[in-house]
Amino acid sequence: MARHLITSAIPYINGIKHLGNLVGSQLPADLFARFQRARGNEVMFVCATDEHGTPAELAAAKAGKPVDVFCAEMHQVQANIARRFGLSFDHFGRSSSPQNHRLTQHFAGKLAENGLIAEVSERQVYSNADGRFLPDRYIEGTCPNCGYDKARGDQCENCTKQLDPTDLIEPRSAISGSTDLEVRETKHLYLRQSALRQELSEWIDSKTDWPILTTSIAKKWLNDGEGLQDRGITRDLDWGVPVKKGDQPWPGMEGKVFYVWFDAPIEYIAATAEWADANGKPADEWRRWWRLDEGAGDVRYTQFMGKDNVPFHTLSFPATIIGSGEPWKLVDYIKSFNYLTYDGGQFSTSQGRGVFQDQALSILPADYWRWWLLSHAPEGSDSEFTWENFQQSVNKDLADVLGNFVSRITKFCRSKFGETIPEGGSYGPEEQALVQALTTRIRAYEGFMEAMEVRKAANELRAIWVLGNEYLQSAAPWSTFKTDPEKAAMQVRLGLNLIRLYAVLSQPFIPFAADSMLAAMRTDDRAWPDDVSAALDTLPAGHAFDVPEVLFAKITDEQRDEWQERFKGARA
Ligand code: MF3
Ligand code: ZN
Repeated sequence: MARHLITSAIPYINGIKHLGNLVGSQLPADLFARFQRARGNEVMFVCATDEHGTPAELAAAKAGKPVDVFCAEMHQVQANIARRFGLSFDHFGRSSSPQNHRLTQHFAGKLAENGLIAEVSERQVYSNADGRFLPDRYIEGTCPNCGYDKARGDQCENCTKQLDPTDLIEPRSAISGSTDLEVRETKHLYLRQSALRQELSEWIDSKTDWPILTTSIAKKWLNDGEGLQDRGITRDLDWGVPVKKGDQPWPGMEGKVFYVWFDAPIEYIAATAEWADANGKPADEWRRWWRLDEGAGDVRYTQFMGKDNVPFHTLSFPATIIGSGEPWKLVDYIKSFNYLTYDGGQFSTSQGRGVFQDQALSILPADYWRWWLLSHAPEGSDSEFTWENFQQSVNKDLADVLGNFVSRITKFCRSKFGETIPEGGSYGPEEQALVQALTTRIRAYEGFMEAMEVRKAANELRAIWVLGNEYLQSAAPWSTFKTDPEKAAMQVRLGLNLIRLYAVLSQPFIPFAADSMLAAMRTDDRAWPDDVSAALDTLPAGHAFDVPEVLFAKITDEQRDEWQERFKGARA
């Protein structure tokens, strides 16, 4: 039995995410986790909300709530949506957890012990009225370039010029509007990533089996002049992990917190610790996933993420792990994704353009989305969501191919033999050919799933469904029945067993429909078809079943047009 540690990039807490976020990390990670569990392997699949940083503070302020309250509520919202999409996390944690505080402070302490932290003095804007340093984007003023009066300290939104807060004319606090600002000296910690360049570069070079998308981004950052600069890992914010050296105070760092990108990936480890604590398990139960000296030697660790996250996972987080000098598990494989675009443009949160996760679930069941998103995963390049394509995919693959197969065979059986699997007859050459064809395709499907070739796996699964329809079409039990009822019984028995087999194979993609199919077949036998012919004998003659409700309803043209209109967003 193999052991798989699987993590999905942890979504920001600041709002409900759109479908692109789902297909870029959580959904393919879930597909892989479900597949590995179905194969009988041991899986630890964690995700979390990414709760620190300026965006969280700003979103909380906008909602008029204290930031800790806002995060707790939004975590629940995101956890519910994830559950409704069937995301099978072993634990969905929070980067603000005490476990993450401790681990983040622990790593910082180790990095300092190993001489990898530098203390740097900087000049930064302090607001007397707010009693705090202001991050660049908390400072507003007039753009020296175009005169726009709401330019931010990092950039002017109007003319796009990159700015320093000290460039702004009449700067003021974006929090209070106060102009009582001054520049003060403040100290920050820098992680000396450059000292780890050699080790990181050798490590990346050893990953010859990684997707090009992953390694090309990593190498670009390593080798560019800009690459692998030392990185500020502290901020002057209230909300975050307080800066400490392990459990000791860090002189001069009072009132500061770690930068969100420093503590966020450490949450992968912390979420596993949260899982243990939440389930009353001792610490060695989570450490056996993460510590090479405590049992993680045989763990295979796979990360899923969008391409914008790759530098943090190929360089920054590994720098933390390697720099600690402790035997923590490094990632074995990074599966990264391009972007999903929406109907010829970008998804836009601010313009309400595109489908957000809660909206998606309010109009159609999770499996419809899961199937479309996964079968169109942006692997080789960006992919585009259009309502037409979505409608076509759902109506053809799910309704016409899979749904129709299930409905035809169960209804035919009920009408001629009743709602029990009929006996009589035995396999002939047609059935043997089907078993052959299924075996070939199922082995290919396993190969693609193992390799996380998501689209190819979806194609193979669709082809497996098609084989059933083709068989049914040519075996035509409704005709056979007139001349040879025994043979028709055998064909129907095979067909009903195929429903169970399809449920087992399809479960990683469409878990809810798979459950309905198994429930209709009145079985919970989810044994993986290592031997296809044996798998098709699982449900014996005499076994009772139910004709299920329609598995997938077709999307009508009216629905398609209505949704296209509803989600097009406010045009600028
Ligand atoms: N919150 C980040 C995003 O949505 C992802 C963080 S992934 C982790 O882009 F590594 F930090 F965990
Ligand atoms: Zn400007």
